Amino acid sequence: MERHHIEVMIDEISINKRIKELGEQISQDYAGKKVYLICILKGSVYFTCELAKRITVPVIMDFMQCSSYGAATKSSGVVKLSKDLDLAITDQDVIIIEDIIDSGRTLRHLKELLRQRGPASLKICTLLDKPSRRIVDVDVDYTGFQIEDKFVVGYGLDYDQQYRNLPYIGVVEFDSPGQ
Ligand code: IMP
Ligand code: MG
Repeated sequence: MERHHIEVMIDEISINKRIKELGEQISQDYAGKKVYLICILKGSVYFTCELAKRITVPVIMDFMQCSSYGAATKSSGVVKLSKDLDLAITDQDVIIIEDIIDSGRTLRHLKELLRQRGPASLKICTLLDKPSRRIVDVDVDYTGFQIEDKFVVGYGLDYDQQYRNLPYIGVVEFDSPGQ
């Protein structure tokens, strides 16, 4: 790992406040319904759990893990499922919960895959969005924060599997040699 340090970008209080707002919005939008939250492992774990606590309609949680194929095939947008859902989503109101949308490839692929299972509705909720990095179009229904093109960690997001447990979103700043 290159020498680096972390600078706070979005503090814990601001994240909690925004998640509460998103929870209220989703509770309103899904009034009278039951919502299936699909947590995309591992990055979305913290966000999904905190969001779920703020939703007042009945919530079902399920987990899915996917990874992009190697660099050569990444441009095809093919993602490999390493863990599928436990539950069927046919005729259910489903929200995919993501940590961050970058190129949009992962979500584009996941949305297509889940749509084929016949949910009653299928939406996307992301904690962070880097719109300037988008390569494929994807409709995002709920966004926590739009951020500029910086590599961020914390609140589930990692740098080489580290820093997921930070209670805030931080930017990885690489130290120049001799610093
Ligand atoms: P996409 O398919 O390019 O939208 O990929 C999104 C995925 O890339 C996220 O789920 C993260 O795993 C990863 N990612 C993108 N940007 C960052 C970042 O700034 N920090 C950590 N992971 C990131
Ligand atoms: Mg991820």
